[in-house]
Amino acid sequence: MTDPLNSESAAQQTNAVHSLHQLLPAMSEQLIGLDTLCQRLLIALLCGGHILIEGPPGVAKTRTIKEFAQRLNTQFVRIQATPDLLPADITGSDIYHQPSGEFRFVHGPVFNNIVLVDEINRAPPKVQSALLEAMAEHQVSMGGTTRKLEEPFMVAATQNPIEHEGTYPLPEAQLDRFMFFVQLKLPDLHNERLILDQVLSETQSDSTSSKGPPCIASAIDVLSARQEVEKVFISDAVRDYIVRLTGATRGKGMGGVASGEIEHAASPRTSINLALAGRARAWLMRRDFVTPDDVAELATDILCGRIVLDYRARAAGLSERDIIQRILNDTPRV
Ligand SMILES: Nc1ncnc2c1ncn2[C@@H]1O[C@H](COP(=O)(O)OP(=O)(O)OP(=O)(O)O)[C@@H](O)[C@H]1O
Ligand SMILES: [Mg+2]
Repeated sequence: MTDPLNSESAAQQTNAVHSLHQLLPAMSEQLIGLDTLCQRLLIALLCGGHILIEGPPGVAKTRTIKEFAQRLNTQFVRIQATPDLLPADITGSDIYHQPSGEFRFVHGPVFNNIVLVDEINRAPPKVQSALLEAMAEHQVSMGGTTRKLEEPFMVAATQNPIEHEGTYPLPEAQLDRFMFFVQLKLPDLHNERLILDQVLSETQSDSTSSKGPPCIASAIDVLSARQEVEKVFISDAVRDYIVRLTGATRGKGMGGVASGEIEHAASPRTSINLALAGRARAWLMRRDFVTPDDVAELATDILCGRIVLDYRARAAGLSERDIIQRILNDTPRV
């Protein structure tokens, strides 16, 4: 006889697979040229990771994350970081409740599923470190009490690469907490026109309906999918490839090929993220094993914020992405 509980969870998982596989095609219909960002968001959510998006204003960063949260029917909040933000503005705090004469905890915006922190580098260091604990531990500690955040939990932070005045650049340790570093560029003329058509057609239909995009999956689907992703197989050959890539950012004698150009090399968290994200990518491709191509395709967005270039490389006009591309070309996949 089949166990009803088991068959119920199997049905839930089939449902999750079906719904989440529909998410990316649905989003790409409305968000022009942002397929990679949408895929990275989903992979990060499936792995319990976080994402840092760098890009100029007006390239649909807010819209993409908001739509992603709406399609997944998850709780979404947007925080605008400013220099006068306090840690309690993010985590919440104990507030005096007069009728009972007690202090009661009022939950801050971090107690949501998808937290968009706009211009994170404008937040002062104490706020950044409060976020860090939430991101790393998926919990908030205050006044001796630790409160778990509800899963799925993901921070999507943005920063503007052209503004440096009045900002507090994220320290290396904080950057390492992000799974992905996605860089958005201005669209080309073809996409610019598609965006214009898209937004104009929406403003027309908005006057008749003001509903957001229909939801496709749920937070429960994400949690079921996470269990599936964890089962995806990573062979020894792929693990060795991951280690070769991370090692290639380190000095000579540690597998390094780019020594002299990289001042700070990638940490073991890089290898872990490459493996976790590789599994989620394989699952999205409906495979139950990771290939070296999964890892290579994700490597730039995972490695990018984790290495710091030497001043000579900068003077030569090289970027982190250039160096990573060279590492990818030079590192044998098998
Ligand atoms: N690739 C795109 N696809 C669809 N719409 C887009 C795209 N790029 C820009 N838009 C439109 O441009 C407008 C601005 O988007 P949004 O507010 O999300 O930008 P942003 O990157 O968050 O900007 P800011 O950095 O100023 O907060 C929205 O109306 C959005 O629909
Ligand atoms: Mg925005």
